[in-house]
Parts: sequence; structure tokens; C-alpha cells
Amino acid sequence: MYFYQPSDGHGLPHDPLNAIIGPRPIGWIASVDAHGKRNLAPYSFFNCFNYRPPIIGFASSGWKDSVQNIVETREFVWNLTTLDLASAMNETSASLAHGEDEFIRAGLTPVESRLVRAPRVAESPVNFECRLSQCIQLTGADGTAVDTWLVLGEVVAVHIDESLLENGIYQTAKAKPVLRAGGPSAYYSIDESQRFDLIRPDAR
Ligand SMILES: Cc1cc2nc3c(=O)[nH]c(=O)nc-3n(C[C@H](O)[C@H](O)[C@H](O)COP(=O)(O)O)c2cc1C
Repeated sequence: MYFYQPSDGHGLPHDPLNAIIGPRPIGWIASVDAHGKRNLAPYSFFNCFNYRPPIIGFASSGWKDSVQNIVETREFVWNLTTLDLASAMNETSASLAHGEDEFIRAGLTPVESRLVRAPRVAESPVNFECRLSQCIQLTGADGTAVDTWLVLGEVVAVHIDESLLENGIYQTAKAKPVLRAGGPSAYYSIDESQRFDLIRPDAR
């Protein structure tokens, strides 16, 4: 087994961490600042953490505009990145001056949300309107503060394109979600052929 202790470096051409913990869903996060200026950025350190109430979260390496906006307004919108939106999503990761609009840069359409001020990406078939529940600064095992911020939000409203619902069942693969893998540029998507099912022991 190849062995390393991250505190001493990995000794490999690329850090394998995000290639191993992958592919990951993308938190494509729309927010506004206190003056209503829009922002949109992808975060692949992202996941869902609770069912009821639904809570999702992403981690920002450094205090980025998305974190600043969300702490200011206590709201954000998550948008599903689908295969046809992959390059637009990538464009929205560009470091623009605070207040420059990633929607315009990426040719995306902002539409009003129902409950929060942050806009939804109209081209995305699923949007979650969220309210900030916690913004937590990470620490190492020894308690040393890390310059990384975990932003958790309660999903207060859900929009789903009805073409993704078959007999009321949401079709994960039909949406062709974009998933982030390792290195500087690797992604995957999925289709129905990769599906398999497992019944939990307690449910047998
Ligand atoms: C697919 C993808 C995933 C990313 N994931 C993260 C992440 O998890 N954490 C992070 O801090 N930056 C991540 N980035 C970089 C941010 O998107 C980038 O720094 C962006 O400019 C932040 O925007 P903001 O300052 O408007 O929030 C990712 C970029 C891409 C393209």
C-alpha cells in the first residue's frame, strides 16, 4: 500500500484526496450581497447532510464572495449542474472582482426565487432556495483554525423540472448531473446503465 501522512506531503504528482473522494456533486451557489449584487460560483466540497429539515452545505477554502454574501444576507440558492451546463458552471468559477456578475459572464439567466433574494439559474432544472443555518470555521485535530468555512443552509423551497419526475419519482440519471473528480480538470456524469440496487439488511 502506498502510505503517506498528509502533514508531510503526499509525494505524488497530484494530491489524490479529491480524486479518491469522488466523483462529488457540485454546489453551484447563487447569492446576493447586502446591496443585491448577484454572485454565482461552484463548490465541489458540497453535500446534503440532513433529511428533515433538509440541510445542504459547502466548504469554501478561504473567505470567498459566496461566504461573505451568505453571511451578510443569510440566504442562498443551490442549482443543479447538468452536462449541458458544465462549461457555464466552469466559467462561473473565474475570480471576478466582487460585484462583477458571473451570470452575465457565463450567459446564464437569473430568475427570481420565491422565498429568498438570491436568484435561481433558469437553465438549471433543479434549484433549492436555502437559508443559512450555520457558518463554521474548520479546525485541525489539534484545534488550530483552518482558513476554510463550512456553510450550511436549510432548504426552504425546492424547484424541479417536471421532466425529471416519472410517476412522481425523481430520475437522478436523467438529469445528467455533473460530478467533480480529481486533478485540475476531471469530471464524470452518469447514465441509467450504471445503476444498481441494494436492499439494506434492516429492510429485508
Ligand atoms: C468544479 C469546481 C469546484 C470547486 N469547488 C470549490 C470548493 O469546494 N471550495 C472552494 O473554495 N472553491 C472551489 N472552487 C473554486 C471556486 O469556484 C472559485 O474560487 C470561485 O471564484 C469562488 O467564487 P466566489 O468568490 O464568488 O464565491 C471550485 C471550482 C470549480 C470549477
